[in-house]
Order: sequence, then C-alpha cells, then structure tokens
Amino acid sequence: MKHTLILVLSWIVIPHTSCDGIDSLTFPDGFLFGVATSSYQTEGAWNESDKGVSIFDSWVQSCPECIADRSHGNIASDSYHKYEEDAMLIKQLGFNYYRFSISWSRILPNGLTNNVNKEGIRHYKDIIEVLLRNSIEPVVTIYHYDHPQVLEEMGGWTNELMVEWYLDYAKIVFREFGPMVKIFTTINEPQEMCAGYNDNGTAPGKLLPNMVGYYLCLHNVLKAHAKAYHMYDDEFRASQNGLISINNPCSGQVLDDSRDTISADTSFQFYCGMVGHPIYIGDYPPIVKERVALVSKYLGYHKSRLPTFSPKWISYIKGTADFFGLNSYTSEIAHPDPDEARGIYNSDSGIITTHKPTWHNSSIFWLKSVPEGFGNLLRKIKVDYNNPLVFVTENGFPDYGELNDIDRINYFRSYLEELIIAVKRDGCRISRYTIWSLLDNWEFHFGYTTPFGIIKVDFNSPSRERIPKSSAYWWKEVIRTHRLQDVPNINVILANIESVLKSHHR
Ligand SMILES: *[C@@H]1O[C@H](CO)[C@@H](O)[C@H](O)[C@H]1NC(C)=O
Ligand SMILES: *[C@@H]1O[C@H](CO)[C@@H](O)[C@H](O)[C@H]1NC(C)=O
Ligand SMILES: *[C@@H]1O[C@H](CO)[C@@H](O)[C@H](O)[C@H]1NC(C)=O
Repeated sequence: MKHTLILVLSWIVIPHTSCDGIDSLTFPDGFLFGVATSSYQTEGAWNESDKGVSIFDSWVQSCPECIADRSHGNIASDSYHKYEEDAMLIKQLGFNYYRFSISWSRILPNGLTNNVNKEGIRHYKDIIEVLLRNSIEPVVTIYHYDHPQVLEEMGGWTNELMVEWYLDYAKIVFREFGPMVKIFTTINEPQEMCAGYNDNGTAPGKLLPNMVGYYLCLHNVLKAHAKAYHMYDDEFRASQNGLISINNPCSGQVLDDSRDTISADTSFQFYCGMVGHPIYIGDYPPIVKERVALVSKYLGYHKSRLPTFSPKWISYIKGTADFFGLNSYTSEIAHPDPDEARGIYNSDSGIITTHKPTWHNSSIFWLKSVPEGFGNLLRKIKVDYNNPLVFVTENGFPDYGELNDIDRINYFRSYLEELIIAVKRDGCRISRYTIWSLLDNWEFHFGYTTPFGIIKVDFNSPSRERIPKSSAYWWKEVIRTHRLQDVPNINVILANIESVLKSHHR
C-alpha cells in the first residue's frame, strides 16, 4: 500500500525531467543494482577461525592515533557472523548483486600456500551459497587492501615477489570460488592502497620519501593484476566463463571560468589514469612520465622515481579488463600550482585542486556532492578509453549516521540521473551500479566517524543490530520501479522504514 502511495506522490512531484528528449529518470533495460562492502571494514572476527594477521590488524594496533576515533575493525559490522542476515536485507531491498571481498589472511594465514585455511574457504563458500539461494549474484573482490602482515614484513608491495605471492593467492580464489562466481575484481583501488607506502593515512603507513614507495607499489600491483588476468584467461576462463577487472578510483573534473582543460586532464591522468592508461592505452600516461621525470630531476634524483615498464610488460598489461570497474565519489577543479612559475615544484602533478563553495558537503572534507562532475567523468572514460563497458563498482556518500539520510538520497538521485543521461544521450556503456556501502562500517583513518551505509549498524551494541535508513527504502522503490524516485516526504519514509524493519525481523 505504501509503495503505491509513494509512487503516486512522485508522479505528482517530479516533472518528467527531459534532457534532449530522453527520460533521464528511467534506467535502461537490464541495468543492475548492487551493494558493496569489504572484508576488513565489515567482517570483524579478526582473530577467529585461524585467520592470520593482516596489515590492518597490525596498523590499528601500532598506530591507534592514525585513526580519527582510535577505533579498529576487530568486530566492525560483525558480518563474519551476520552474513545471512545481511543477505536477507539485500534480498528484501531487491538488489541484484552483492560485492564483497575475501580476506587474504583468512585464506592464507601464513601469507604463503603452506597452510590453506579450510575454515576460511568454507566461510566464503557459505556466503556465496546463501547469496545464490536468494538469487543475489556474488561479485568478488579478490583483495581489498588487507594483505597478510607477514608479507608486509618481507616488503609488501615494494617487493616485486609480492606479484607471485598475490598470484598464488588469486589462483586459490579462482579454483575454490570461480565455479560459483562470475565477476571478479583483482585489486581494489591501487592508488589508495599504495598511499600506505607514502603516508600514515592507511596501512601499512610507511613514511617512505617522495612518492618512491607509492610508485613502486603501483608498478608491482599493475603487474600482479595483469598476471592474475592472464592466469584467469589461461586456466579458468574456458570452464568458468566469468568477467574480470580491477577497481579503479577516479574523480570527476569540473571546469571553472578559466576553462583549463589541460590541468583537468593532468589531474585525471595522475589518479584515474595511473591504472586506466596502462590497461586501456598502454603504459603510464605520457604527462605523468614527463612530469615525474622533471620533478625527480629537480629533487636531485639521477633518474625518474616512476619505474619503467618494458615494452613486453606494456603489452602484457594492456587489455587486462573485461569491464571498467569504476569507483567514484567526488570531483574537483584543477589549476596549475602558481609556485611552479617561480621554479618551485611542490608535487609531481603540479596541480592544485579546489572545490566550488556551492558543492554540497559530506562528513569527509574532500568528498563533495558534484553530480555534473560524475557525468563528465563517465564521458571522459568513454572518449579516452574507447567506450569500454563500465560497471560502477563503488559510489556513495558519507554523513554523520542519520537514519533519515536525505542528503544521501539526494546524492544518489542526482548522480544516477547523470549516469542515465550519460548512457541514453551520450552512448556510454554502463550496465551496473554499486552502492558503497550496504552497511555502516570502519572507514580507515576516519574510523566510524563517516558512515556510508544505507543500513545503520549500532556499533555500541554487541549484537551490531542493522537498521535500514531512509535511503534503503528509497532504493527499494528505485529498484522495484527501475526508475529514480523523488526524494520522498519524511513521514512516508519513516512509515516505510517501519514496514521494512517489521518484515526484516519477522
Ligand atoms: C580475539 O581478540 C579478542 C580481542 O579483540 C580477544 O578478546 C579474544 O580472546 C581473541 N581470541 C582469540 C581466539 O585469540
Ligand atoms: C603521520 O605522518 C605525519 C608526517 O607525514 C606526522 O606529522 C604525523 O605525526 C603522523 N601521524 C601519526 C598519528 O603518526
Ligand atoms: C560547506 O562547508 C563550508 C565550510 O564549512 C561552507 O563554507 C560551505 O558554505 C558549505 N557548502 C554548502 C553548499 O553548504
């Protein structure tokens, strides 16, 4: 009944937004919706069932002051124990798939393959089975930042042998789960992960100088990704017939009155392009090679801090994605750093970024709601990378934990309208959209202070109760109707939260 009510309301309230004659509220046929989490951020059970210690287990212990609320993910959202309840919620809300990650140290507690933990394998098979029984497709991130600490002690991603260690792990994942999983991503957001080899904002928090560790990590990660892709091709694709890619974090660019498209592109290349260019065009972006060499010289290095790929590696990495796995949250305006005119180089990119004061704030200082920037990004990916098939593998909005998360609904609605326009008007090939996140969870150095969930988790309660927020109900309607709904009336939403809760606890 309430569903009908809200639908009628939205028909009255929303003018049929017509953008060049297209219906920018209705999703294309066959478009799929999913929700995402990651192992360390949601699972908890950090020391259960023979799991080994990951770099996050170590980092939160060794540097509690690196985390805003000095918290950790020892229990997190307790999804290790509550995955069946999570699956029921996903089903009730109507999502088509669930993107989650596998904890490397739960599968290989020693990092290497001398101890393949049966309980770890069993756990993820249990999750996959409960999803499939409920017609929810499992989408698996093989590795979402949390590699075994023992491998870090041998250098982690600054050691090229990590490529082989990752490959050994990925092979077990394909072998054990590939018969039931048809979409894999190898590595989540290399650029964010590799920041942990430059600063203390994330694990392992190694303060290595001048981005040397960052570039080395990225270099090895790209090799590891490409090897895993080729291994899937050679050994598993024929029997498993899935799709495989990597999760690339990208920001949108918005121009101001200066219309500085060169700075916008440079900024894009230094982030999104670090993974996009090697995979879709070949090698690092020319501007990045040029600039890092220039600034390296300025800093007194006799050669560039950016490692070089051999021609063989360039062609081996190129083409290693069956879809573009896009993680995107926000946008920026890029300008040249004025210091460079005076011969001072503050960064490799030479770019400083700003925001418009009119962009909506979230609880994270750099994450502004910029729907037009998201649309620009989707078109940029189409143009630069020859219109690849895109799955949005993460998008979402952090607030302060409100149950009535109207800002989050506004964010989703405005971003998705841009997505629909990019598909229908501009011919972008986008067929999936994944919310970060299903649940409130542990957000790295922000701890629990910047929740992203469409479902609230009560972190003060030992049983970590789940409570769907307004946005969860809004999503239920969007999926049911395959159409963006208006941001609803608060009373209607609250009544509907109650009904979702009731059916959930029935
Ligand atoms: C796991 O860690 C918790 C603290 O987070 C501790 O209370 C518990 O005893 C540990 N369990 C095992 C099996 O070591
Ligand atoms: C993080 O690193 C910076 C230097 O980059 C340092 O000033 C700061 O104290 C470190 N923070 C913690 C919590 O260790
Ligand atoms: C965002 O926050 C900044 C600083 O607090 C403020 O100046 C700005 O007006 C806010 N923007 C919006 C759109 O509310």
